[in-house]
Amino acid sequence: MALRLIRTVYGSPMPGYRELFDASIDDPEPFWGDAATAVTWTKPPQRVLDDSNPPFYRWFPDAELNTCANALDRHVDSGRGDQPALIYDSAVTDTKRTYTYRELLEHTARFAGALRGLGVGRGDRVVIYMPMIPEAVIAMLACARLGAVHSVVFGGFAPHELAVRIDDVRPTVVVSASCGIEPGRVLEYKPMLDAAIGMVDHPPRHCVVVQRDRQRCELIEGRDWDWADVMAAATPADPVPVAATDPLYVLYTSGTTGKPKGIVRDNGGHAVALLWSMRHIYDVAPGEVFWAASDVGWVVGHSYIVYAPLLLGATTVLYEGKPVGTPDPGAFWRVVAEHGVKVLFTAPTAIRAIRKEDHEAEHVGRYDLSCLKYLFLAGERLDPDTYHWASAKLGIPVIDHWWQTETGWAVAANPVGVQRFPIKPGSPTVPMPGYDVHVLHDDGYGCDAGQEGAICIRLPLPPGTLPTLWNADARYEASYLSEHPGFYLTGDGGHFDEDGYLFVMGRIDDVINVAGHRLSTGAIEEVLATHPSVAECAVIGVPDDIKGQVPRGLVVVKAGADTDGLADELVALVRSEIGAVASLRIVDVVPALPKTRSGKILRKTMRALAAGRDEPVPSTIEDPSVLDTLQTILRG
Ligand code: COA
Ligand code: AMP
Repeated sequence: MALRLIRTVYGSPMPGYRELFDASIDDPEPFWGDAATAVTWTKPPQRVLDDSNPPFYRWFPDAELNTCANALDRHVDSGRGDQPALIYDSAVTDTKRTYTYRELLEHTARFAGALRGLGVGRGDRVVIYMPMIPEAVIAMLACARLGAVHSVVFGGFAPHELAVRIDDVRPTVVVSASCGIEPGRVLEYKPMLDAAIGMVDHPPRHCVVVQRDRQRCELIEGRDWDWADVMAAATPADPVPVAATDPLYVLYTSGTTGKPKGIVRDNGGHAVALLWSMRHIYDVAPGEVFWAASDVGWVVGHSYIVYAPLLLGATTVLYEGKPVGTPDPGAFWRVVAEHGVKVLFTAPTAIRAIRKEDHEAEHVGRYDLSCLKYLFLAGERLDPDTYHWASAKLGIPVIDHWWQTETGWAVAANPVGVQRFPIKPGSPTVPMPGYDVHVLHDDGYGCDAGQEGAICIRLPLPPGTLPTLWNADARYEASYLSEHPGFYLTGDGGHFDEDGYLFVMGRIDDVINVAGHRLSTGAIEEVLATHPSVAECAVIGVPDDIKGQVPRGLVVVKAGADTDGLADELVALVRSEIGAVASLRIVDVVPALPKTRSGKILRKTMRALAAGRDEPVPSTIEDPSVLDTLQTILRG
């Protein structure tokens, strides 16, 4: 029997949360049916949940809507046309621009018309490979307007990673930009796009490229189009109603192998869940300013830079810059003060980077931050030190919340819009309505309070979460649903405490979180293994003061291989194949890797060694002396 701590442990005085949570689990259909009234449907749902084909569940199976119309048109229609929808603040180009809802709608409808002119229709895919510029948001919304499916690829990925995604999702059009701007250097996107297209089996018919002033690029005649030209020639497009269950986007994320998983998000459940989250979790109302300091290439960017604030009629901030160095560790506080941000959402890494450069928070004192009511953090574990620093220096609630690309919105949080729980540093607080969270032993039994296990969620998952993987139902079942039948396996380990607070301690698979970016150690290993001198290799995540974790490579070389300069070559190889975002800096040549007698590499044991944790050495180890050598290297 799996334990349902939350419902047995919580009593009054927390009726708000408890009532909502119980209602969502005991009777999900009225709960989400009620939440769905916040959406404008072209065909309102008569049914809430289709559970006829477990383990595949669909929300609002007979409804129709257009997500873009919900994010833009309806706010213009209801009188918000002149309210800021999007504030673009670029610290790297020193540019600021505000788009009202009316302006954002005009740009979006026009770009949707441009895409339609290039052959994009309902169900077609569009890959978006762009830096943090307004055109990225406009392109996403324009796809939604046409009922097309966008797939945004983070700009820090190298051509090969982009190519893998293009071949899987097979876009009609790729939207990109001439360059991205990182502190101190201009990154040319177009050569990377061209290289990626050169590698694929399914090239797009067209590319649309935003020519940025800092560095323009060459366009290939007949294939590539300048954003400005297609916009000038386009006729604005109206929103196309789609089924609630139609895909809105595919976002690739790292799994345990080198092949990324295409997380599918539908239209209807997504709109319902995000709207619910804005009010109940983030305590934001229409007209207020919400800033997710992330990137549109990650799920946080999809949900909380683009869709949720706009669906609500709030104002969103699109920040092109870093927490430090653009130009100083006060950058975030400047943006908050200048744009009247009520809620800031970022990754703990950003706060650690700021704290490192401004430990006394002198920059906090330079700005009037009275508008800022909450700091929400997610993307990686919020270590208690970072929590204490931020809450002391900012003097506002600092809210840890836990979720994943797959879920699209928070699984566990402190739902300050409903009721504020006392904070326990290290815990993202309690499961959100719709998420029936259980901590399970390997044998499927529920763990008691305090016992570590696999964090799982009983099916069905709530609206807004992944219905499946892109063109890969079997992989969806194998990756998430087969380990504990009836449950979704999150891949994270942790426990509930006696009060029903959830503690998420880290991944129990080969996924690592580097600066809030999710990476697969398997993917990095696949690249290392292609080097002619490498006989075998392992990549593990090791603790890092700023980035939380960074990958570290361990390679065994082939007999007679030259190891001079090999580590540098391997670092460069990973950078060119996966991208700078992989942040691989250290590769050690080792005599052997620890393995079981059946040849399985003992990664968990190596991770423990690197983290300085004592972990029992498996009795199946082939040669325990290998660990002594590794210990010297890893802890050296
Ligand atoms: N396009 C191209 N390259 C990018 C990029 C992008 N959008 N984003 C990052 N990179 C590059 C960086 O320039 C860096 O390259 P380098 O190795 O040549 O210096 C590399 O990828 C690693 O980037 P990052 O991990 O971001 O490290 P950093 O040292 O540049 O910055 C922080 C450190 C802490 C400032 C940065 O990681 C940060 O802002 N983190 C916040 C995390 C975040 O927003 N996560 C999203 C989930 S909420
Ligand atoms: P991503 O899919 O990139 O959002 O990464 C999701 C993973 O990040 C989760 O499975 C966790 O391992 C980790 N993560 C995200 N938020 C938190 C958090 N608040 N606490 C602990 N881990 C987190």
